[in-house]
This record gives sequence, structure tokens and C-alpha cells, in this order.
Amino acid sequence: MSIKSLGYMGFAVKDVSAWRSFLTKKVGLMEVAGSDESAQYRMDSRSWRIAVQKGASDDLAFAGYEVANPAALQEMTERLRNAGIQVETGNAELAGRRGVMELISFQDPFGMPLEIYYGATDVFERPFVSSAGVTGFVTGEQGAGHYFYVVPSLDEGLAFYTGVLGFQMSDVIDIAMGPDLTVRGYFLHCNGRHHTLAIAAAPMPKRMHHFMLQALTLDDVGHACDRLDGMDDKTTDSNLRLPTNVDRTASCLTTTIGRHVNDHMLSFYSETPSGFELEFGWGAREVDDRSWVMTRHNRTAMWGHKSLRNKA
Ligand SMILES: [Fe+2]
Repeated sequence: MSIKSLGYMGFAVKDVSAWRSFLTKKVGLMEVAGSDESAQYRMDSRSWRIAVQKGASDDLAFAGYEVANPAALQEMTERLRNAGIQVETGNAELAGRRGVMELISFQDPFGMPLEIYYGATDVFERPFVSSAGVTGFVTGEQGAGHYFYVVPSLDEGLAFYTGVLGFQMSDVIDIAMGPDLTVRGYFLHCNGRHHTLAIAAAPMPKRMHHFMLQALTLDDVGHACDRLDGMDDKTTDSNLRLPTNVDRTASCLTTTIGRHVNDHMLSFYSETPSGFELEFGWGAREVDDRSWVMTRHNRTAMWGHKSLRNKA
């Protein structure tokens, strides 16, 4: 028994209302509860998947991983304690806020708050309706998506996430970040999603490089790209053939559309209101532990994914 999937993510953000606009109008999630201080968003039948809360860090604040049942949660608790991790159990107030039956909370070796839970709330009686017309997101057994996590020590990170939490290695990319800097990223899975977690020791200011949400169709990616590219031509007068008064500097895109070498995700990247990035994707391949062997890559993209930073 082990972790089944990434269940939810929470971000501490300076501007909750900017995130509200970003996640609903641009990304197409469904807000279920919100105030000036915090908000929760749905992307499938679960009562929520993404939370934002007012905070100074503009970074990932917590992540919740799902296990199947109470026995699996007990096993994970023991595994963590045997590894010397301090684990808080029995916090019914927090479980209530997360909408889960029971959870444990702890920190990874770098102080990142993590939770493991079972019994999330499903609300099939209130279907997910995208606020921007996204047909839907790939979740279910593959969980909410993935995130790319920057750690101070790759060895320590791998020891914890594979050795203690039980993630499996999918592959490695040696990522050229400059003429004299190549960073090795490890891509880890806990279900059929090629990677739920990617970790690297990179010279970056935040623990979060990006998180990824996977849409159901290629057109979802194209429409999302249109919503985020700042050209906004679908809100101009419908009688106009060509967009007018387009403000290209308002683009949130940080890369062009491209396809990754390892998970084969076709995606683009966009800047969130907190500075870290969102990857909006479709069409990834899955891993199967019976046949999968890890490989190594020298590039992140088969094609595309060209940086648009500083090109406004
Ligand atoms: Fe990604």
C-alpha cells in the first residue's frame, strides 16, 4: 500500500483576487468557496483540488497525497515515523477544512508541509462546470496533476520521496539552464501519470517552478493559450474579422506550445499571479510499472516550448 495520487495543492499568494481571475477566467476552474483571504477551486468531481490562501511567500504552501483507506494511512504514518519524521495525526479540524475523512500532516526534509489523507469528498451531484469552457481535466487515478519542485539537495529529496513516500523513478532530464549550468531533474510517478512530482536542485528562489493541469482535449490547450496570450480577440466585437487594440504586453505566456520528451505532454507554460508557472497540457503518455524502464534525456522538449520571457 502506498500513495495513490496527488489529491490537492494549496498556494500562499499575495493577491487572492488576481488568482481568482486567473484560475476561473483563464485556466477554467470552478470556484466553490472564496473570500478576500482564501478560495477553493474544483476541476473534477472532487469538492476541491486547488486552494489559494493569503500569504507572503507566493509559493506552494501545502500538497495533499491520497491513499486508499485507513490501513494505508496507518502504514504511511509508521513508515514516516520509522524514517524519523514527526507526524501529526488526529487533526479533525484540518481534515474538515480539507473535506477528507482523516489525514496526517508532516514536513519533508526541506520544511515543505505535506498531508496524506483518505476519504476525500466527491460531489457528483454537482457536476464540474468549467468557467471558461474547458471540456474537463484528466484526474481520477492520475490525481490532480503534477508539480516541479525545487529542492536544496537532490540526494536528500530522492531519498525521501522514493525511499520513504514510495515514488518510482520515471526518467531523468539534464536541463541546460545556461551556458555553464545543467541541472538534473528527476521525474517520479505513483500511478499511471508519467510524473506526479519532478524534483531538481536548481538555483531558483521558490520551491515551486510550475504545476501542471492536463485537459481532456487538444482544443482545450489551444483555447487556454488564446485566453492567456493577451491578444483577447474573442472578446472583441463579433462583427470584426480582426482583433483591434490588442495589447501584446499583457501576455502571460512564458513558452510557446511544445511537446515534452519524457511524458510526451503537449503543453504551454504561463506565468501565474505569483510568478511561478502553470503548465497547461494534453495528450501525455502513461507509465506502466510492469514494462517501464527509466531513461535519460538531454532536452525537455521534442519541439516547441521556446521561452517567451523578456520578449514582450
Ligand atoms: Fe511539467
